[in-house]
Amino acid sequence: MTAARGRRTACCVTLTPDDSPESELSGGLAAREAALSLAQAALDRRGGLEEAMEQAPFSKLEPRDRAFARMLAMTLLRRLGAIDARLQARLAKEPPESVVMLLRLGVVQALYLDTPAFAAVDTTVRLAERSKTTRPFKGLINGVLRGILRDPPREDDPESLVPGWLFARWRAAYGEAGARAIAAMVAFEPATDLTLRDTAEAAELAALLEAEILPGPSLRVRQHGDVAGWSGYHEGRWWVQDAAAAVPARLLRIAAGETVLDLCAAPGGKTLELAAAGGKVTALDRSGARLGRLRQALQRTGLVAEIVTADAATWRDPRRFAGVLLDAPCSATGTFRRHPDVLWGSKPADIASLAGVQARLLDAAADRVEAGGRLIYCVCSLEPEEGEAQAAALLKRRPDLSPWAIEAGEGGSPMASATPAGTLRILPHHLDGGLDGFFVARFRKS
Ligand SMILES: C[S@@+](CC[C@H](N)C(=O)[O-])C[C@H]1O[C@@H](n2cnc3c(N)ncnc32)[C@H](O)[C@@H]1O
Repeated sequence: MTAARGRRTACCVTLTPDDSPESELSGGLAAREAALSLAQAALDRRGGLEEAMEQAPFSKLEPRDRAFARMLAMTLLRRLGAIDARLQARLAKEPPESVVMLLRLGVVQALYLDTPAFAAVDTTVRLAERSKTTRPFKGLINGVLRGILRDPPREDDPESLVPGWLFARWRAAYGEAGARAIAAMVAFEPATDLTLRDTAEAAELAALLEAEILPGPSLRVRQHGDVAGWSGYHEGRWWVQDAAAAVPARLLRIAAGETVLDLCAAPGGKTLELAAAGGKVTALDRSGARLGRLRQALQRTGLVAEIVTADAATWRDPRRFAGVLLDAPCSATGTFRRHPDVLWGSKPADIASLAGVQARLLDAAADRVEAGGRLIYCVCSLEPEEGEAQAAALLKRRPDLSPWAIEAGEGGSPMASATPAGTLRILPHHLDGGLDGFFVARFRKS
């Protein structure tokens, strides 16, 4: 339970003891307040959600309240477009942003979670009472939420779950049906996928974890909760990695003892795969903090890799490698199932500027491949400028590289993701239950 001591800001609601009829928030209200701060941080800036999860008020909650706050915020972000459409239909004039956030939180509870209607309205109004800005809007909040509750619940149109500019891009790239199938995946909370240190243990671990064995193999676990409590975690027998994210490293086909460079490696799921395959791995990233997570994962799994903190474009090192994997920084629009905030934090201009970065990093990656070696380029983006266009432009720039076609189903990839060009375009609806969107291309150096 969090006491509101002194002045602090939660989302847009400034709380002070004097300002509030209650100086203590009950667990439920504190969780709702924290959910507001998470959602607001996600909407304010890219990466804001992750940062806000490390800070108060979220970090101060009891574990149960933290789980509830996280679920509230994630559902708010998954359904944001549809929630706002419902609110807009009922608001003659847009109220202050802090009031809009409270209304969104009320609608999430009333329509998408099992919160009884009375509690959804009551808790939202009680949160409104806590600030001078929102207090005058208590009547409006009460009226709008009750009005929405009187509406018969209906399925959200997938298009309403995605910002218009992004849906238009997906429609242009994948057609109307493709764009709708992708957008429909926004609504669903994904299961947890695991990659195994030793794939021969798939059946045993699947039984222990009550998991589904996916192609690859990866495991899909439907239980929730802290993964550190799951069987095999402390022994380092697996790590959390989306089923799609596990595909690119397998396509490098690393044999024991081969040298591999994982450029842009952190937090390191692909490094672990390459090391587990027996590669002599160098993992490079410019973020020391993110590499710290790789160090911990290496320790837990007992796998080995050389870690380099450097900029991939300017790294001074004379070595060439049999395999190079570049998992480039990107808009990450393919990861919206786990990170619905990417939908609302991305801007059209980001895609063009990231495409420039990707081209520079691809040239640096190609330079690091030894003669006869292979290169994998991948991005967790659904945007063709970051995928297909990069692969095509690289081949034009680099006569020393040739495409090495990826076979349908290779590396555990969904059959539907194989393209006529021999690349992979993995879309979030290509597997029952979903997976991240990815583009993957493979090259050989002459
Ligand atoms: C998509 S993430 C990589 C995920 C990672 N491959 C994995 O499987 O866990 C992109 C990474 O690129 C790193 N990065 C961005 N620009 C970089 C650069 N110029 N040089 C090195 N790393 C860079 C970021 O720090 C980030 O960790």
